[in-house]
Parts: sequence; C-alpha cells; structure tokens
Amino acid sequence: MVGLPARGKTYISQKVCRYLNWLGITTKVFNVGNYRRQLHGANLPHTFFDPNNSQGEQQRQEAALAALDDLMQWLLDEDQNNMVALYDATNSTRKRRKWLHDTLTAKGIQVLFIESICQDESLVLANVRDVKISSPDYRDMDPQKAAEDFTARIEHYKEQYETITEDNYTYVKLINVGSQNVINLIQGYLESRIVYYVLNLHIQPRKIYFSRHGESQYNLTGKLGGDSYLSERGQMYAGMLPALIQNHLGRDKSLTVWTSTLRRTIQTAEGLPYPKLQWKALDELDAGVCDGMTYEEIEEKYPEDYANRDEDKYNYRYRGGESYRDVVLRLEPVIMELERHENILIVGHQAILRCIYGYFMNYSQEDLPYIKIPLHTLIELTPRAYSCDEKRYGVDIEAVDTHRPKPTSSQRKLGVHTAEAPAGASGEIVKDFTSPIVPISPMVSKPKQPLGSKD
Ligand code: ATP
Ligand code: F6P
Repeated sequence: MVGLPARGKTYISQKVCRYLNWLGITTKVFNVGNYRRQLHGANLPHTFFDPNNSQGEQQRQEAALAALDDLMQWLLDEDQNNMVALYDATNSTRKRRKWLHDTLTAKGIQVLFIESICQDESLVLANVRDVKISSPDYRDMDPQKAAEDFTARIEHYKEQYETITEDNYTYVKLINVGSQNVINLIQGYLESRIVYYVLNLHIQPRKIYFSRHGESQYNLTGKLGGDSYLSERGQMYAGMLPALIQNHLGRDKSLTVWTSTLRRTIQTAEGLPYPKLQWKALDELDAGVCDGMTYEEIEEKYPEDYANRDEDKYNYRYRGGESYRDVVLRLEPVIMELERHENILIVGHQAILRCIYGYFMNYSQEDLPYIKIPLHTLIELTPRAYSCDEKRYGVDIEAVDTHRPKPTSSQRKLGVHTAEAPAGASGEIVKDFTSPIVPISPMVSKPKQPLGSKD
C-alpha cells in the first residue's frame, strides 16, 4: 500500500484480503502500525512522525523491518500455500518503496503497489473522525485533541510524500475514490483480479439485504433443489417482504433486487416495487443426482457420498453437481457487482446466501457451509470501515428449518445422525417469531485485531 494517513489503505487491504481468502487464495495483511505499537508503545504524539525526529525515524524503520521480515517468512513458508501478503503502511517515499521493491524482488516475490490518493480534505477529516480517533493510538484521549494530533501527523507525512512515478514498478493508483485511476505494468491473472477488484470499490453508505425465498413446496417435504413454487406460508412471507424492507430501508430509498432464475425467488420478489434483475449465477447449489431427494434418501442411496459431505462440506461436490467451492467461484462476478452497487436486496437460496454472507462476514471455508440463514428472515448488513454491522428481522410466519448442523467428529465416525435432525426433512416448524416484525439479536462483526494507524 502507498498513501498518506487516512486515505483508506487499511480499508482497501482488509477488503482485498477478505476477497482473496474467500476465493481460496491465502492472503494476510501485515500492518506496520501494529508492529510500531508493539515495539515502541501506543500513544505516541505526532512529533514521533516528524521526519526531522531522527529517533522516531529509526524506530519507525525498525517496525517496518520487523513487519517485512514476518511478511517474507510467511510468504516463503514452503509448508503453506500462502499466496498474497498486503504490506499495510504509508510507503510514501521513493526511498522506502525502492527498499521494499528491491528486498522483495530479491526473494522472488512479485510486488504490486496500490496507492490511494485523496484530495478531498473533508473526506479525509471524516475518515479521521470516523476511525482514526478511535485507534489504539488515541485510547482515552479527548476526540478533538486526537483529531488535531492526527492532522498534525498527516502534515509530517506530507512534507516527505512522493506519489508513485516509478514507471518501472507495477502499480495501481486510485485517485479520489475511483474518480480517476492509473494502472501500470499490470500482468497476470492475480494482479489483474486484484486491480479489477480495487477499481470497483466505493465508500458510499449503503445497505445490503439478504432474504431466502419464502418457504417452498420442496422445503415442506425436505427435498433439495428443484424448481418448486412457494408454499402457502412462503406466499404470505412474499406478501410481507415489501413492508419489511421499506420499514428498515426507508420508503423513499432506492434499491435494486436480485433474484435467481428459479421460481421460488422470483415469486418471493414479485411484490417488491423496485427494479429487479435475475442472475443465473444466483441459482441454488446444484445437487446433481441428488436433486429432488431428501437428506435421508441421500444417506440411504449414497451413504459414502453422504459421509464425505459431512467430512468436508466445503469441498464435497455432488455427483454431477457442485460443491460450495464451485459456487464461490461462480458467485465471483456477483460479488464484484455487489461492490459497485449501492442498496441491494438479494432474494436467494440457502447455500448461495451462505457464500455471499460468508464473503462479507469473513467466514472460513470450514464454517461457511453451516452458516444459519433461516427462512422468513431478512438480514441487513451495513458496511463500516473495516467490518459490517448486522441485523436480522423475522416475521411471524412459521417455516420449516432447513439448517443441518455440523456433525461432531465422533458422530461422523459412528455414522450417527446429528442431534438436531434436518428439520426440513421432518417437517419441524420454527416458532421463533412472536410479533409481526421482530428484530433478532443485532450482531456486529469485529475486526480480529485493533486497527489503527501505521508506520
Ligand atoms: P493510516 O495510514 O493512518 O493507517 P489508512 O490510509 O490506512 O490510514 P484507513 O484506516 O483505511 O486509512 O481509513 C479508513 C477510512 O477510509 C474509512 O472510513 C473508509 O471509508 C475510507 N476510505 C476507504 N477507501 C478510501 C479511498 N480510496 N479514499 C479515501 N478514503 C477511503
Ligand atoms: O433445503 C434447501 C436448500 O436450498 C437445497 O435446495 C440445497 O441443496 C440446500 O438447501 C443447501 O444446503 P446444504 O448445503 O446445507 O445442504
């Protein structure tokens, strides 16, 4: 990363990291600010960042080196398949970039610089207020004083800042959040994917909604896949969805609705007064020869397949059908388009919504296929600087529970059914919702480590 403080470098690094990991490309962020805090403590005043402060300069270099050493060790670990590391720091001088470039290329590591330039001072100030004053650098400090100190820190960096002009380097320059972009010497699949992704990012406030289709005829009998119509209760849910959305989004707000090409999602979205788009890529995970069967029937007819799926649900591919891994790859264009859009509602299917939700909420491949996405529930995500806030709203219309929990390893060994049987198959009813519109425990996803400023 390259750029002055508060230009979205951590934001971009975190997003690229989440996106690549989701695609199965093992990626990690190395934030130099965290190393600086660990080595030299937090709560350092802006004078620490003054280029004329030689002790500060030396200590920052130590942190930069420690982070780079770890990064190289991680990338070069032959026992792991680590692919991409993001070196999240300002790297705002030619000298620093030459050091990085030469050190990394000497080890055979390909370097792509991503520079973020933002000339909109009011946006920079908003970034400082939104995220910087709550960084570990300013714990327990008066917000006004913290903002002033951070602004002084930016000024120190400006004294030395040199935008990338090294045209022998591979880089992408994002100017004013995508209003202008410059790309140089980009080559190969991975670099192109990363560049295309960062070119599509925006920071407008927005909501992303997910709803499964209303309960379907197949859900009632526990059958997988198919192209059935909604059950009576599913139709009631479809009838309530417009009000549910409008209550939470606001009546005058614009929204685009995406459905799959299957009847149950199209029927669910029918009454929604918004532009709609059908995506083939949003069709439910293809269960191949098991399409139209219940879990019990699969276990009886294909016991080995059934056990293999329990063993590694993410990678298990149905005979003649798909795995979760396959679905993630086919959803990649959907994610790209989601990043470009503002308010979106996806009326989708269980496996599909798990994959998309898993991208936003940073789920591991192991846990993703077990995410609970119940029927008759609206999920609202609000993207924040480094994570998403989540709220779930249920309606008072019962539906079968199609979630099949992850069997424990002993249950798998003994071939025992999971305690919570697939309710879809047994027709069990979820009776969670008691009032017409019930907010279900709001959850906020937190970044795994404190994110603050770097260098
Ligand atoms: P520092 O060097 O101090 O760590 P930073 O450049 O890493 O700063 P972030 O911590 O990523 O800055 O700042 C997050 C804020 O930046 C978020 O509020 C996000 O909306 C905003 N942001 C994201 N992308 C951009 C961009 N391209 N230009 C300006 N602001 C952006
Ligand atoms: O049961 C509903 C359903 O959407 C099926 O069509 C699909 O095969 C299944 O859920 C996916 O969930 P899981 O991967 O947990 O079997």
